[in-house]
Amino acid sequence: LSYYVEKDRRYVADTLLQGLSRLEYRGYDSAGIAIDGDSEAETLIVKQVGKVSALRAKVDSSELSWDKVYTTQTSISHTRWATHGQPSPINAHPHRSDNGNEFTIVHNGIITNYKELRTLLTNKGYSFESETDTEIVAKLLKYVFDSQRGQHISFTDLAKAVIKELEGAFAFLFKSVHFPGEIVAARRGSPLLIGIKAGENLTADFVDVEEITNAVAASSINEDKNPAYAKRAQSRSFSRADGSNQPLEYFLASDPSAIIEHTRRVLYLEDDDMAHITAKGDLHIYRLRRDDGLSSIRSIKTLEMELAAIMKGNFPHFMLKEIYEQPESVVNTIRGRVDFNKHTVVLGGLRNYLASIRRCRRIVFTACGTSYNSCLATRAIFEELTEIPVSVELSSEFLDRKSPIFRDDVCVFVSQSGETADTILALRYCLERGALCVGITNTVGSSISRETHCGVHINAGPEIGVASTKAYTSQYLALVMMALQLGEDRISMTERRREIINGLRELPNLVKEVLAMDSSIKDLSQTLYQQKSMLVLSRGFQSATCLEAALKIKELSYIHCEGIMAGELKHGPLALIDEHIPVLIIMTKDAYYPKVQSALQQVQARKGNPIVICNTDDTNIDDAALKTIRIPHTVDCLQGILSIIPLQLLSYHMATLNGVDVDFPRNLAKSVTVE
Ligand code: G6P
Repeated sequence: LSYYVEKDRRYVADTLLQGLSRLEYRGYDSAGIAIDGDSEAETLIVKQVGKVSALRAKVDSSELSWDKVYTTQTSISHTRWATHGQPSPINAHPHRSDNGNEFTIVHNGIITNYKELRTLLTNKGYSFESETDTEIVAKLLKYVFDSQRGQHISFTDLAKAVIKELEGAFAFLFKSVHFPGEIVAARRGSPLLIGIKAGENLTADFVDVEEITNAVAASSINEDKNPAYAKRAQSRSFSRADGSNQPLEYFLASDPSAIIEHTRRVLYLEDDDMAHITAKGDLHIYRLRRDDGLSSIRSIKTLEMELAAIMKGNFPHFMLKEIYEQPESVVNTIRGRVDFNKHTVVLGGLRNYLASIRRCRRIVFTACGTSYNSCLATRAIFEELTEIPVSVELSSEFLDRKSPIFRDDVCVFVSQSGETADTILALRYCLERGALCVGITNTVGSSISRETHCGVHINAGPEIGVASTKAYTSQYLALVMMALQLGEDRISMTERRREIINGLRELPNLVKEVLAMDSSIKDLSQTLYQQKSMLVLSRGFQSATCLEAALKIKELSYIHCEGIMAGELKHGPLALIDEHIPVLIIMTKDAYYPKVQSALQQVQARKGNPIVICNTDDTNIDDAALKTIRIPHTVDCLQGILSIIPLQLLSYHMATLNGVDVDFPRNLAKSVTVE
């Protein structure tokens, strides 16, 4: 937060803490803030382990004078998800250069060469208080600053010199007592945006990227060369209108939900952008690297997202709210894209690329976690409708394998957040090899949506619960719609497409019917939540549902659970079956029904304890003899959208019975922006 208007310290602290609590959904283990002290030469830091509320309590109980009024000030804050070092107040951000807090910084990402830099700085007499990679950056700022004393180094030159030494991924905010009222922000690989709250006479809607050449960055920290300064090109920055003293505030954040209650006017930084807010309140943007064809303007956009949409409503947890939002979220994914009379699908984001995609020799889906399961769930219908071979890859494994990718491949990156580091790296790998890259994300303006050639936004609305629910069903739908659109030139598939599109029309109502079963699923959860281990079994169109259900049960209920492909039962998992282990069997009516039926018999023959998820109209199954969950029937390739919902609810209820903080399961993060 950086502002140029009279405000008191209470406002500063509350704004930071409120912003952090809006980011809680990303998962974190500690938090901290750094604010201006009573004089410009002082920065105060407060850090705490645990939730933002714990930090708030610590801030409130501190001895700070709350009526201290600033006319300009800069302050920074952070929630941390440990990558180096245990969660602890010392390892929490902001990190500092020295006991006097001359430089304070917050960082998202990982500095991979931190060990070398730590050794180098240790040899120069620096000592470290934390185990983090970030602290070396704070120390490096001081080291370069001290070595340039008397040279009037600017904050941007200093920042650039330091960043030049770093390898890895970052979004940084730098603050310093030597540069009061100034903030330097920079990103490479981690998201960063700037919200601008300005008076009426501020009309600029973009900021030019300026040249910063030959500054101190030209000298390496290992050689204490004298820097040569160069003049910056004349360019447009964002500033208060001439002579005006209009109040102006900047909110820098990794995620718009942190700032949306203050302003909707937002500028997204690109990778290798460095932003500088000056003591007068002007905003300049520079490039950290020599240019690469990126546009030289950063436009200020207006966010459409509603704050209410990112709050819990009347539900006890975000996750339950998101499960219940599915009748609307599936409509939002479909809305405006499907013509139910002509039986056609138009995804605007792919329109100009259809011919190239149809010409490709294969499609490679790449994703992590739940997004990966949505790819598995739709692979069969994708191949059937398009006749293009599809492979599905876990981003991390795909990268490890360095799989060959060619110019005539189409690579589809599926990610709710659009910021998952493994998936972004896989995307960059495929871009380098000349493949056509398609993004399927839920986050407009995310790295994946910006770096892909084309794509589809799933429009499920913000998903806050760490365990993904409505994004899964919307990703699933978006992929089915993509297959429908790609396959529209295949006459032989006309009837099949018509059947699926009719199915899409019915889907929202069927989702509502499934949700109406919640209380019976809650009853079932009472009988299961103390189990140590469970299995989910099916095959064909429902295989992915098994994997996704097992993931939900594991991550939320902390119960070991495995998704088993029924065809593999006899090749190993059958050994696990006894009268104790609950086996959820998804046996909906499709071409594979008889095969799943025989798996059910195998389980029963070993005195297993099956719970069958079947269709409402299935008369083969005797409810008196078996535990059942009955769901409405739909087209085979859409059935997985209905069959996952009772399992989402089951995992939710088992989790609450087990006392789990459902929206923030232990050790997990919503958006994993590190490799
Ligand atoms: C994390 C989340 C999962 C999510 C996965 C992929 O592990 O906890 O819920 O499925 O990341 O995230 P993405 O944003 O790329 O879909």
